[in-house]
Amino acid sequence: MSAPPEVSDSGLLAFMLPRFALKHGVRVTVVESDAEAVLGEAGVPVFAKEGVGVGLVLTTDSPHGETFAAWLTSDIGLRTVLSFKVDGDSVFSEPVVVQEEVAEVALSGDARRGQDASLRACGRCHVIGEINRMAGIGSTPSFAVLRTMGDWQERFEIFYVLNPHPSFTIIPEVIEEFDETRPSPIAPVTVTLEEIEDIVAYVAGIDPADLGAPIAHQ
Ligand code: HEC
Repeated sequence: MSAPPEVSDSGLLAFMLPRFALKHGVRVTVVESDAEAVLGEAGVPVFAKEGVGVGLVLTTDSPHGETFAAWLTSDIGLRTVLSFKVDGDSVFSEPVVVQEEVAEVALSGDARRGQDASLRACGRCHVIGEINRMAGIGSTPSFAVLRTMGDWQERFEIFYVLNPHPSFTIIPEVIEEFDETRPSPIAPVTVTLEEIEDIVAYVAGIDPADLGAPIAHQ
């Protein structure tokens, strides 16, 4: 897993991870990048520090990651986090529950066509749904995992400027050629703006990956 400095520097991980390991027999390694479980601004709210929410995102479908997410979002996991103290004072608090944003704006794309476009243009790397569940590249987040992010729609609308896509994506009339400073061995992907709208409509209908049980408040 990885965590932002305000979490990792607090000592919470050294307190919490051995407790999780004892309970589930899974040892978690803290890494700087490419983590399977990422604590940060995005994802399912797990706890907060000084009123700022911390979320968890799983970047792969690993069973260990899911066990960790289930534990951290459970009552026991939350109580472990809340019981962490520095000089007798609690550091973390209950997650900030943000009102689910209801998308009022009707999506103009066609979800059915979006599935075809996703499969063709994205399905080589991303698991886009049941339809290519066994395909995709393990280290690439599935659409269902990306769908858990609060700002998933914006990310999909501009995916072509987010890494790694700029090195292989062509959008006719928008991006006609790759950035020459980033030659890429990856076969190019061409998608139209209309297809991106369709893909967003398709992703809107995907159930976000279940990253663990919701927190039961007493
Ligand atoms: C050649 C492989 C590949 C293809 C093809 C591909 N992606 Fe990705 N995509 C990735 C990888 C790898 C990541 C994870 C990047 C990371 O974690 O930094 C990613 C991440 C994303 C993200 C999250 C980006 C972020 O920074 O939050 C979105 C959204 C996304 N892809 C959408 C798409 C869409 C839509 C398509 C098809 C039109 C597509 N991708 C095609 C490899 C690919």
